[in-house]
Amino acid sequence: MASLSTLLLRGPTLLRCCPRLFAARTYAAGGDFKYIITEKKGKNNNVGLVQLNRPKALNALFQPLIEEVNQALTVFQEDPSIGAIVLTGTEKAFAAGADIKEMSDKTFQSCYSGKFLKDWDSVTQLKKPIIAAVNGYALGGGCELAMMCDIIYAGENAQFGQPEILLGTIPGAGGTQRLTRVVGKSLAMEMILTGDRISAQEAKQAGLVSKIFPVEKLVEEAVRCAEKIASNSKLVTQMAKESVNAAFETTLAEGVRLEKKLFYCTFATDDRKEGMSAFVEKRKANFKDN
Ligand code: HXC
Repeated sequence: MASLSTLLLRGPTLLRCCPRLFAARTYAAGGDFKYIITEKKGKNNNVGLVQLNRPKALNALFQPLIEEVNQALTVFQEDPSIGAIVLTGTEKAFAAGADIKEMSDKTFQSCYSGKFLKDWDSVTQLKKPIIAAVNGYALGGGCELAMMCDIIYAGENAQFGQPEILLGTIPGAGGTQRLTRVVGKSLAMEMILTGDRISAQEAKQAGLVSKIFPVEKLVEEAVRCAEKIASNSKLVTQMAKESVNAAFETTLAEGVRLEKKLFYCTFATDDRKEGMSAFVEKRKANFKDN
């Protein structure tokens, strides 16, 4: 396979014959990625797409893949033109969990004192909104990764599950906590204690996903939602995200206090002034992310 520098040198030729390949493989700085594809999407190129691309192993999550995802997310987080991110997999699998083959020889000692899972939850540190577009299997660590995102859209074939119990272990990247908070104790217990999966429809009914689409339309619809988010003030969007996330971590009183402070903070921004002026003047707001 050609190296990044070769691709860059041959850029103009490649761009003419294969623009998609060029955009996908060379966008993210330092990103000659092996296990993911990154791309800028949307009419204004303001959506960052990260696609897990280890199809032979159903996108099983292992350290090199996680490192690439984190690297790509950092690039999109720091790119001022990007307003929202979409994380997806393939049509068969979002991710079928942590890589069981990689995990099978680990010991308590190597897990506890080593780096295992150290940076698997970097998604939760993102300030920009991230949408998980889940087709196929989202199992174990795959389901946990989707739940770290802000919004989950599902394809009609999606299946969510925490089957770790069948392997003699338990979820280790937030599954027992995030699933329980979202779907409630009874369904979370049932899924985690039996290892049974739920369908896209059941996941929607339980509040785990917000919308379901045909498999082939899923990413397009997730990008459409991300574009809508990216068209608002990026600054104020981050405040809204911070405030919603507080609902999972604080008491109601503390959450409401934080919300009030962030609401007041919006009055220190040009975008709040622009948004309200635009309404009064009956025109579309032109946010400057300031
Ligand atoms: C490593 C995996 C894998 C996984 C699938 N593969 N899931 N490899 N880790 N989690 C590999 C298979 O070994 C196989 O490789 C290839 O992907 C295709 O898988 P098949 O099983 O042949 O496909 P299929 O019959 O369609 O079944 C799909 C499946 C099944 C139902 C998703 O693969 C499955 O049950 N996978 C394991 C799911 C799971 O238990 N996840 C939780 C993991 S624990 P080869 O080389 O044989 O062709 C976990 C802990 C998280 O996530 C805690 C911290 C993050």
